[in-house]
Amino acid sequence: MTTSTATLKIQGDIPLDQEIENIIRSSGKITVGSRTGPEVIYGPDPRGLKIISKETRERFEAAGIDISEGYPSIPDKYKVPIYVDEAFAIRDDDYNYVDRGKNADPEKKALLGAAKEVIHYTKHIGTEIVGLQLADLTDKQRDELALLIAERGVVFFRDQKLTPQKQLELGEYYGRVEKHPQAPQVNGLPGVSVIWQNYHQQVFGQNRTFKNNNYCNFDGSRNYPGRGTQIMHTDLVHEKRPAGITHLHLDTVPDVGGDTFWFSGYAAYDKLSEEFKKFLDGKQAVHRSLHKYLDRDDPFGGPKNVERVHPLVRTNPTTGWKSLYVNRLHTTRILGVSPVESDIILKYLLDVYEKNADIQVRFKWGPQKPGYGVSALWDNRVTQHKSVFDTEGRTARHGTRVTALAEIPFLDPNSKSQREALGLPLDE
Ligand SMILES: [Fe+2]
Repeated sequence: MTTSTATLKIQGDIPLDQEIENIIRSSGKITVGSRTGPEVIYGPDPRGLKIISKETRERFEAAGIDISEGYPSIPDKYKVPIYVDEAFAIRDDDYNYVDRGKNADPEKKALLGAAKEVIHYTKHIGTEIVGLQLADLTDKQRDELALLIAERGVVFFRDQKLTPQKQLELGEYYGRVEKHPQAPQVNGLPGVSVIWQNYHQQVFGQNRTFKNNNYCNFDGSRNYPGRGTQIMHTDLVHEKRPAGITHLHLDTVPDVGGDTFWFSGYAAYDKLSEEFKKFLDGKQAVHRSLHKYLDRDDPFGGPKNVERVHPLVRTNPTTGWKSLYVNRLHTTRILGVSPVESDIILKYLLDVYEKNADIQVRFKWGPQKPGYGVSALWDNRVTQHKSVFDTEGRTARHGTRVTALAEIPFLDPNSKSQREALGLPLDE
């Protein structure tokens, strides 16, 4: 017979899990998750001010964001979940997602008609819109943009003037914005996460190097700090409703380096044989979170990931097309087959994504003229991405990210693959 830790009491009437939580909360040094070290700061971080770029500072000043006491803002320790069940419960609720691209004009006349130029980077993924400001789009154009993102996977906008507040507003238009319990954020704007590798490297003490960066590319489970972003992944797969449209805006752009790759999930699915597609349709896979928490019933067993089950092939409701929903960083196993079979199938599916250059796009963010930023908006339901770690955390590169969560993933058995829907040959 097992006894739940939650019912064990070590002194007085306080259950053990509560006792552990009290110790962690009252300690200046012990934390759960990624925030560890001799000096754990919460709230605005004064250390960030030493390396903040002129471009970021000016963008924030123009937007009225107060960074006088520090930047970025580290979420309050008392709001960081201690236990896996608490993290699992975040947004594990009823919520009615509205898909903005679903009823947009299929020709996207309001958006594309207003653009100076529309540049398709590759056949299957990636489009740049020239001559429009994201901050000024009408709702009709926003809907058409959502459709374009769902079709092309990722859409780029250069020469942007965009405040974090306006970026957040656009994200809220596209869905419920994720507010990360642990990740650094823009002061006063939960939901606007900070993407700033040189801060993590120089201030937070992450030791990611040209050399050890190689090791974790072979094995994502190797615990090199900051390993997450360089391995092909989709964001927030441990959520009940994982990420839909994610918007990364870089206000500090390296002239050279810090590129990002995106991979098409529609095309990865269409690379498979029709027989193998039939086998995979309807299967489910387990995904785990990047951050870890304690198991309430086994608190001494070490931190554990939040886990969530989603369909292996999912239908994007905006386009109606099927996409292969597995990723190298978070997907741990396929259900309904043996562990050995799961490993082999997963390896093959991830290789299909990574080895086929014709279903990928590599985006070079810079150079960007001073005072302007660059935006990428991608559909996390149908793409994967990874960053290129060639700046080694030493080149200034700073951005803000807003993620709109989408629907609960589903497979519509009557939905088609992209090539099927477009009438392209399937080449058995
Ligand atoms: Fe990501």
